[in-house]
Amino acid sequence: MEAFDAVDLIRTKRDKGALSTDEINWLIDAYTRGYVADEQMSAMTMAIFLNGMDRREIKDLTMAMIASGDTMDFSSLSKKTTDKHSTGGVGDKITLPLAPLVASFGVAVPQLSGRGLGHTGGTLDKLESIPGWRANVSPARMREILEQVGAVVCAAGSGLAPADGKLYALRDITGTVEAIPLIASSIMSKKIAEGTAALVLDVKFGSGAFLKNIEHSRELAQVMVQLGQDAGVATSALITNMHVPLGLAIGNANEVRESVEVLAGGGPADIRELTLALATEMLALAGFPDADVAAALDDGRAMDTWRAMVTAQGGDPSAELPVARETHVVAAERSGVLVQQQALPFGIAAWRLGAGRARAEDPVQHAAGVDLHAKPGDTVTKGQPLFTLSADEPERFARALEALDGAYLIGDPGDTIDDGGPLIAEKITQ
Ligand code: URA
Repeated sequence: MEAFDAVDLIRTKRDKGALSTDEINWLIDAYTRGYVADEQMSAMTMAIFLNGMDRREIKDLTMAMIASGDTMDFSSLSKKTTDKHSTGGVGDKITLPLAPLVASFGVAVPQLSGRGLGHTGGTLDKLESIPGWRANVSPARMREILEQVGAVVCAAGSGLAPADGKLYALRDITGTVEAIPLIASSIMSKKIAEGTAALVLDVKFGSGAFLKNIEHSRELAQVMVQLGQDAGVATSALITNMHVPLGLAIGNANEVRESVEVLAGGGPADIRELTLALATEMLALAGFPDADVAAALDDGRAMDTWRAMVTAQGGDPSAELPVARETHVVAAERSGVLVQQQALPFGIAAWRLGAGRARAEDPVQHAAGVDLHAKPGDTVTKGQPLFTLSADEPERFARALEALDGAYLIGDPGDTIDDGGPLIAEKITQ
């Protein structure tokens, strides 16, 4: 005999009521077991999308999703654990320099990551462009790498929060992804189940982000920080600008190349700035408030950890990265100042070139992507290359160029630069 009836719960939420803790626990368990049908859960997610959930309901939903599967426990490691989660953006390769940088301070970074879907890339796809590198690591080996090297970036097994996996796939096809209670519980159930003691959230806003306006991103950040803290995870968030692509590389192999430049003390200023800000925050939450993170990038300590981290997962950090068979350069049509470069169309272009996937089972082309040669605010001269498209199949260029139609603008000196403001807009601590 089931404790509740799904239809009653759907009606409650449809009529703007709140679900009780017992009702939420039953709903998630019954959906995971297959007793509650996809069409019932679709109606429920739409009711949540339209009518929201209060903080207590969101917490119950998160806890119920954690309880649907396994949890990891790193409390017996000799190091403190700290992790980062980004809500995703165009050119967001920050995990690559960040994880080894933080680990170089003797802290463990157990990063369970995903593959990309749509216009935002996945960290595992980027790392898989390194010859030999493998995303699948057993829990025992993960612990070993954390002790020896400090950072591991690997595929999350299906055992962590399986209710989320099922629910996320359903939301994806029912237009219910962008609901704050559902996003917050989805992200935080996986991060809490992962067993990290500290967590920094990079919550993005702007054209290339999941949530376009800063008010929604702030609300999401506040809900997630509260969820983490309630679960005993030291959690804070940075609200960051995803109006223009991060860095100059959008793709996979090219993003690894750019990350290595940052690890060598160089690289684009925005990637370095965000890496340092997130590292400072992650280390502060792990009990190292005075860590000089810039020094560790500049003196090679972070690079040494990167090389050890890649090697530990079978990769060759000295190997040549794949290069695309074909390139197409787009040049400036006039001289002036680049005043606009919208993140979303550039993300879509990289995806259409083969850097991303349309279906979860599709492969990605590691050498495909976009390399920018100028950023908003830069002076450009007529005929100067603005960006280069790379693909293995030249027939992909036309569709990528279509996505980029109207996505960038050259203006005159003194025109307003449409870059969405500072890269790091706010910090949320509660
Ligand atoms: N990422 C997740 O893991 N879940 C969401 O709901 C949105 C982004």
